[in-house]
Amino acid sequence: MGVKVVGTGSYIPEKVLTNIDLQNMVDTSDEWIRVRTGIVERHIAPPEMSSGDMASIAAARALEMAGIAASEISAIVVATTTPDHVFPNTAALVQKSIGAENAFGFDLSAACSGMIYSLELAYSLLARKKYRYVLLCGAEKLSAITNWKDRNTCVLFGDGAGAVILGRTDDDESGQLASDLHTNGSYSDILKLPAGGSRQPASHETVEQGLHYISMQGKETFKLAVNAMTSACKNVLAEAQIDVSQVKLVIPHQANKRIIEAVAQRIDVKEEQLFVNVHKYGNTSAASVSICLDEAFREGRITKGDIVLLVAFGAGLTWGAQLIRV
Ligand code: COA
Repeated sequence: MGVKVVGTGSYIPEKVLTNIDLQNMVDTSDEWIRVRTGIVERHIAPPEMSSGDMASIAAARALEMAGIAASEISAIVVATTTPDHVFPNTAALVQKSIGAENAFGFDLSAACSGMIYSLELAYSLLARKKYRYVLLCGAEKLSAITNWKDRNTCVLFGDGAGAVILGRTDDDESGQLASDLHTNGSYSDILKLPAGGSRQPASHETVEQGLHYISMQGKETFKLAVNAMTSACKNVLAEAQIDVSQVKLVIPHQANKRIIEAVAQRIDVKEEQLFVNVHKYGNTSAASVSICLDEAFREGRITKGDIVLLVAFGAGLTWGAQLIRV
């Protein structure tokens, strides 16, 4: 028995916010953003649209590709740092929206590593005969938690959603070849949303101080990201005893082109093996890896049986890699 990717989908909001637009909002320049991050534009969801709405559209597209009914889904995991509500979970809203009446669902909070963690769950669930298909969504409306007056962060993020459906198959070849997941809470302060949780509930003061926006130490995060992602990639390749040349595509979390290139260089990945779309969408946190996976399938850069290396790093700190045969 194996587990394969049977369908993927994504949703990117229509509205584009370019670097030029940002020049008119904060003290920045198109050149600074391009050179330091590789980002050219990002997409912003309309006010009435939530992460759950975007996840539902991505999920419907994944169901269409899979050619299965929503009622066949056993479980839904929504990885997000911008859930529609603290409760109910966003997965419940997706379940209703797509009509997956037989699925149980929950949200997963691991920031930008959300899809890497979700895949671990999906492969574990599908090892049991009880479950046939698992729907994973990564969805973010980061524009809702971005301080549009802070040039250190507002140029980096964007909105969007991706969805991946994994299913049990008789083909033994497909499945998880290796995984490497980590958390290090010692660095929890370098990237966080300070207020709005039980430690610092929302109040007039927290709103006045802008504590409901992303707070980040960029330089520190950059260095930690490169080292952690490199080591996770090396660990999964070693565990599976696979040479990087056998990997069809490396899909890294899309935070910064320089981070991606630094990791690629350290694990010796060729340009044609590397998936990059950060220039179009910026950092979409938990959504980024699943959006990439969907684009990679639809652009024909990967197909059934290929080995794919997915790797991410995010707040927590959380990080990890998945080496899978799709
Ligand atoms: N436009 C112009 N100048 C800006 C700017 C902007 N949008 N944002 C910051 N700056 C300025 C800062 O004020 C600072 O100026 P100072 O030196 O006078 O204080 C300087 O640029 C910062 O430069 P530096 O620290 O060398 O930038 P950098 O090369 O580290 O790039 C980031 C900054 C944020 C792009 C980079 O650190 C990064 O991408 N970090 C990781 C972010 C990330 O991935 N987060 C999510 C993790 S999943």
